[in-house]
Amino acid sequence: MALTILKGNIVSAPRLGQLDVTEGGYLVARDGMILGVFPQLPAEFQGAFVEDFGGDLIVQAFSDMHLHAPQYPMLATGMDLPLLDWLNTYAFPTEARFADRDYARAVYRTLARDLIAGGTTRVCMFSSLHTDATLILMEELERAGVTGFVGKVNMDRNSAPGLLEETTEESKRETLRWLEACADFRGLRPILTPRFTPSCTDALMAFLGELSRTRDLPVQSHLSENRQEIQWVRQLHPDCRQYWQTYQKFGLWHDKTVMAHCVWSDEEERRAMKEAGVTVVHCADSNQNLCSGVAPVRKMLREGLQVTLGSDVAGGDSLSMFQVVASSIRASKARRILDNWETDFLTVAEGWYLGTSAAAHFFGEKPGFAPGNRLHAMVLRDTDLHTPSHLDPKARLERAVYLRQKDCVRAVWSDGRRVL
Ligand code: GUN
Ligand code: FE
Repeated sequence: MALTILKGNIVSAPRLGQLDVTEGGYLVARDGMILGVFPQLPAEFQGAFVEDFGGDLIVQAFSDMHLHAPQYPMLATGMDLPLLDWLNTYAFPTEARFADRDYARAVYRTLARDLIAGGTTRVCMFSSLHTDATLILMEELERAGVTGFVGKVNMDRNSAPGLLEETTEESKRETLRWLEACADFRGLRPILTPRFTPSCTDALMAFLGELSRTRDLPVQSHLSENRQEIQWVRQLHPDCRQYWQTYQKFGLWHDKTVMAHCVWSDEEERRAMKEAGVTVVHCADSNQNLCSGVAPVRKMLREGLQVTLGSDVAGGDSLSMFQVVASSIRASKARRILDNWETDFLTVAEGWYLGTSAAAHFFGEKPGFAPGNRLHAMVLRDTDLHTPSHLDPKARLERAVYLRQKDCVRAVWSDGRRVL
């Protein structure tokens, strides 16, 4: 029986908009599973080793629910084109380099370390179409302590001929080979990843839908990110009135489906997400960088959708979830302005919930530091900030978000294990 007891100012997000604060409290886990947050150490744990972080904040670690690992080398470059041109000009050539295993190893080792250093312990991630590089990515994430879902990308049409392409048969065969090798991982699980509707033939979509059904596998893709993209999907699938139906008709639209962006999803598409239990990933930085639009996130929340956040590296320019939370709050204010001040914006507490607790549902857990959850936590030491002031824990958290204080991450636990 291994006990972990962390002492400090504990802040968690048990509900959208609510922050629970336990000053000088104890966060207790046994064998990596949270037992609770206590204002005083319960008698049964007296005498056990306590890691005392003094006045530091102890908060939940982040979940980045949408990012492209093989786009990490192009981070913060090439943002001068809209989505479809951006893919062909920058993203596909960058991903093509991951045919080289050594290159993949070097980039993915850095990415995995950077995720943990920024307090991100759970991901829902796209790899490239390369099976070997995808397995290397999973090895490096596991080594660093990042958990969650990783997908070998499927793309058997409209890709980059001679550079980044696979036939339908190759895509099917490599997906099966990759899934077989995934059995070797503990903290990382496979997620089926048709890149987006324009990248996959009907035959491939049907194959993936059948795999999802027979093996109970989750699915991730992109939805209604850009208006040109939506028009293209309409041409490719004239039988579908809306984009989401191109996934639904192949069995890729269900309660283990994650859809990134959903910028232009109208009321009907949003209702379809709610009814199926599809998880939305809001990618505020990317949506702005690629001029995709401003997603109606607050409206989605009011309608009861499952909304999470993603960095969408490298449409997004930062791996830091502090940045992603701050950008999401800002984007919600831009949405409010565009909506003639008729919609609400995200509060800091709501933004923090979306970056941490909101993904718990997808991982089969409860929001906050709920008993029974695996321990995913980080310690924020903000005493070195250049503008010191005496603030309460909630205000300190707000400042950490707005100052994008990833440097104040001093310790991280992932799945119960200390990883930083
Ligand atoms: N749609 C299809 N592929 C991609 C990608 O790599 N990034 C983004 N932002 N959207 C996509
Ligand atoms: Fe993306």
